[in-house]
Amino acid sequence: MKNIDSTGHTRGESIYLDDIPLVQGTLFGAVFGSPVAHGIVRRLQVTEAASYPGVVRVFTFRDIKGDNQIGGIVPDEPLFAEEHVHFCGMPLALVVAVSEKAARAAVQKIRADIEPLSVIVDARVAQAKGELIVPPRTFRLGDIDGAWALCDHIVEGRADTNGQEHLYIETQGAYAVPMENGNIRVYSSTQAPTAVQRAVSKVTGLPMHALDIEVTRLGGGFGGKEDQANVWAALCALACLHLKKPVKYALPRTDDMVMTGKRHPYSSDFRIGLDKDLKILAYEVTFYQNAGAAADLSPAVLERTLFHCTNSYFIPNVRATAYSCRTHLPPNTAFRGFGGPQGMFVIEAAIVKAAEKLGVDAAIIQKRNLLHTGDAFPYGQLAVSETHACWEKSEELYDIAAMREEVAAFNRSQQLFKKGIAFMPVCFGISFTKTLMNQARALVHVYTDGSVSVTTGAVEMGQGVSTKMMQVASTVFSIDDSLVRIQSTSTMKIANTSPSAASATADLNGKAVLMACTEILRRLKDVAALELNTTAESVEVKAGMVWVGGQATGMTWKQLVMAAFVRRVSLSEHAHYATPDIHFDPAKEKGHPFAYHVYGTAIVVATLDCLRGRYTVDAVKVVHDFGVSMNPLIDRGQIEGGIVQGMGWMTMEEVVYDDTGRLRSNTLSTYKVPDIYSVPRDISIEPLHTQQDNLAIFRSKAVGEPPLMYGIGVYFALRSAIRAFNPSAELSFSAPMTPEKALMGLYEKQLEHVPG
Ligand code: MTE
Ligand code: HPA
Ligand code: MOS
Repeated sequence: MKNIDSTGHTRGESIYLDDIPLVQGTLFGAVFGSPVAHGIVRRLQVTEAASYPGVVRVFTFRDIKGDNQIGGIVPDEPLFAEEHVHFCGMPLALVVAVSEKAARAAVQKIRADIEPLSVIVDARVAQAKGELIVPPRTFRLGDIDGAWALCDHIVEGRADTNGQEHLYIETQGAYAVPMENGNIRVYSSTQAPTAVQRAVSKVTGLPMHALDIEVTRLGGGFGGKEDQANVWAALCALACLHLKKPVKYALPRTDDMVMTGKRHPYSSDFRIGLDKDLKILAYEVTFYQNAGAAADLSPAVLERTLFHCTNSYFIPNVRATAYSCRTHLPPNTAFRGFGGPQGMFVIEAAIVKAAEKLGVDAAIIQKRNLLHTGDAFPYGQLAVSETHACWEKSEELYDIAAMREEVAAFNRSQQLFKKGIAFMPVCFGISFTKTLMNQARALVHVYTDGSVSVTTGAVEMGQGVSTKMMQVASTVFSIDDSLVRIQSTSTMKIANTSPSAASATADLNGKAVLMACTEILRRLKDVAALELNTTAESVEVKAGMVWVGGQATGMTWKQLVMAAFVRRVSLSEHAHYATPDIHFDPAKEKGHPFAYHVYGTAIVVATLDCLRGRYTVDAVKVVHDFGVSMNPLIDRGQIEGGIVQGMGWMTMEEVVYDDTGRLRSNTLSTYKVPDIYSVPRDISIEPLHTQQDNLAIFRSKAVGEPPLMYGIGVYFALRSAIRAFNPSAELSFSAPMTPEKALMGLYEKQLEHVPG
């Protein structure tokens, strides 16, 4: 089934924040962000801006009626800077004017005298100075200290991954509209309507029931709007509260890139030990996460790095420690994979380094150490592993022997082009790592004309969750899809929502829809039994008709609904779902945090131009564990998009902050994302159908984030191509592998021999 939004999208009819018709008298905001990354605010001059034509008012921290605080996990993030600024772009003032143009022009008139303080941009430097967001955490399995003595080979190293700009097509924004009784409705481009509601409540001092947060859909979120949509909503609501006028602020792209946090850069040290059979016996890793200036979601991201530090492998002795380091970058935040990719990159680097040292193919070590069902993860949960099935199916289906021979033959015959090949297995846990967040609700109404309205806490951001919700409702009721409408997300209809995140949106909200629809159907069957003089057990609703004992009765869905209404039977239901069986004890760092895991294997082939450092990705061939996909079209789209986004992170996307903490890659001309020309020539996706009972909706496993990590394989395929050209190259593990870096790697060491 096609995504139900596809027609609206292609016709330009879908409603995003900027498409909401404006209420008369709407005013527009623009933020003055700190020009320096760290300093003491000596003076903020806003009078010139306040008297600029069209300006209604300039707001600062002094205008906050509630608390100047929007930190979600740790209360360490003021909405407006007060006497200190902690990152470039940190809001110091909000100008509100009659037009966007006037607001932006007036921002230019604001002057801030800021006494600069020393700036930290590097996570290791922050850690050395004791600048931590939360205390470090360590996951342990087995006896790491005793295990080294049993190892025949021990390899150490360092691995670094850089940040990543979310680059959702729709930038951040919000629109606050005053309602009756002092209520405020906020239209927000957020993945987390309740997080916005809490932040707005805190800043305005209004109770949550006075705030209605509405979300139609997002032009992409990718994690960037899980926590960081709060700022703009709080700013607009604050101005709305003071002025009693609608206030809108949708960020221009450069402001968005400068002011918002990104994927966390990580720097990590690893030590890996193997026995003579290439079994990994020991793995020790220390992660330095660059959290930026405030906690945001960093502690949760850090936790997921630890959860995924061994990726798809069973390692009996592990010690993994992670530091969340406070620097003077904008607070870094959720990004597809949520710290998992950063953890997986390091174990893959460790394996590759060991393979290079031992002169064996990395795939041999990878395959020998894949998880089996029953193996323990370092956090205690036992794997129900599909990782062998995915790996072995990929080898067979894509004929790995022939692929390798092709690459070897190419490399023998070509001098200035080399190919590299890499395997990338993925194992990703599904559930919010914070157990309490794994709950959701759905509100289903059946109207007397037979049409059905479904509201959940799920936010549609391109991932197709609305389509999946419709499929759940129409499947349970066995009615045509056209009878079901998925409504926009609103905190007045569905309260206390978890963000649409952790790839769990369809599972959590879908289960709630399933429960609500099943309950209404149960009542309808009772009604049918009364109407048709039979038992409820013998009644079925199938293809829009009522059946009894396998025979069609002639009674339609619509007649049944009307009969229930006449008998005063409720046609509405609000259901609550909480994922069963999950738990985690942070004191022990052990538990069963995930409902299930998603598995997969990608084989990646890339070709490197050894004269120029340019490359193309020839193929990403995947076997992916879908469970039983309820929507293969959408799920394939998620996999393709995830691969390309992961590849972008690993290759061309280069977030650059200078030493003063200023973002240098702040436009699309200085920040390169994959375009249609860089998409792999061949993306093959083969489903692994797994029938095991799992906690996925209709056993259709979550698919949003896991495929991003297939992109990590591109880095290692390129590394392998570089070494095919320059076998003596000593390459650091440092992503992204930009063409410049590839070029340096190709001639690393060799350059020393160039005379001159
Ligand atoms: N796909 C699109 N088109 N747009 C997005 O913003 N976000 C990703 C992924 N796929 C995203 C996307 C992220 S970060 C997550 S967590 C999941 O979708 C969230 O949706 P789900 O829980 O329904 O999979
Ligand atoms: N994944 C994504 N987002 C989250 C999580 C998680 O595990 N926890 C809190 N926000
Ligand atoms: Mo996704 S990073 O959990 O929004």
